[in-house]
Amino acid sequence: MEKITFFGTHSYDRANFTAANADFNFDLHFLRSFLDEHTVKYLEGARAVCVFVNDNVNRQALYSLKDQGVELVALRCAGFNNVDLQAAKSCGIRVVRVPAYSPHAIAEHVVALLLTLNRKTHRANLRTRDGNFALHGLMGFDLFDKTAGIIGTGKIARVLIKILQGFGMHILAYDPYPDLGYAEQNQVQYVDLKTLYAKSDVISLNCPLTSENRHLINREAIEGMKKGVYVINTGRGPLIDTQALIEGLKNGTVGAAGLDVYEEESSYFFEDRSDKVIRDDNLSRLLSYNNVLITSHQAFFTQEAMHSIALTTLANCQEYFEGRPLSNEVCSQA
Ligand code: NAI
Repeated sequence: MEKITFFGTHSYDRANFTAANADFNFDLHFLRSFLDEHTVKYLEGARAVCVFVNDNVNRQALYSLKDQGVELVALRCAGFNNVDLQAAKSCGIRVVRVPAYSPHAIAEHVVALLLTLNRKTHRANLRTRDGNFALHGLMGFDLFDKTAGIIGTGKIARVLIKILQGFGMHILAYDPYPDLGYAEQNQVQYVDLKTLYAKSDVISLNCPLTSENRHLINREAIEGMKKGVYVINTGRGPLIDTQALIEGLKNGTVGAAGLDVYEEESSYFFEDRSDKVIRDDNLSRLLSYNNVLITSHQAFFTQEAMHSIALTTLANCQEYFEGRPLSNEVCSQA
């Protein structure tokens, strides 16, 4: 029976993968710790490891994995920015991922962040629970007839665009690989980033993190945005320069920010740190603003998405162990 060692697991991962494994019959070995150069020793003879968004699959970790006989890294997520693909290639470790599980889960979370921030239901809930029924400060705006600027027009963005069009929003989009046929059929207008920033009332980041777009939303980008713009990031934390976002929030250029991902999230997200002091000053500051809503990288977290992630991840491993072509392999372009 092939063994797969899982890093960075929580009770919900263990339950989900154990249930899905009924169709596969692997020997699943779950670890709480993230994968890094220190934890790599807890493999116990597995040929495959399964990791998530904040495991640090760097060169050192990969070579240690290789030394211990690991042949496959199975990401239980879509993004692969945390894996040094060149190092994986040079040491002969194959990498697979789950390219799509439920784009609906993430798109719907974008809308949850947007609606909460706009209609201020997070604040209203706190007020009414305290017997305060005043409306002061809770005024929102109609999404109808407003413009959403969508950065990246892949699977998630397309679901999101459909939902936002349901509100009657106009859609501008930017993608270095535009799909003009899709745009024409779906009333989506591709524009350059400068135009998107200048004309959008709401901006949503739905692209991967690559070596080119780190700090895509920086001071210059924010200076070019419409005053009061809502910025929603479910893509990856480093797409936004946090310091620049804080400045934008302070000077009012950014009217609200919904962040499901954060530049330095790996030290905080997915864990209960409620009895500890937050040492990250940027995170503390963002958490102190009532027009900022931070969720802990939970956009993917629906029953349907989790089930699909487990099935695809185990199927990816099965393909490898059976020597079949890998449907969801991630390869270094270098
Ligand atoms: P996808 O691969 O279907 O689409 C990505 C799109 O982004 C493509 O059209 C691509 O051409 C475009 N793109 C690439 N580089 C770009 C750039 N520099 N600027 C603008 N667009 C660019 O991916 P999908 O499934 O829509 O996911 C998008 C991203 O969402 C993932 O890469 C991941 O980082 C993030 N994600 C976040 C989750 C969460 O729980 N918060 C869960 C799943 C994905």
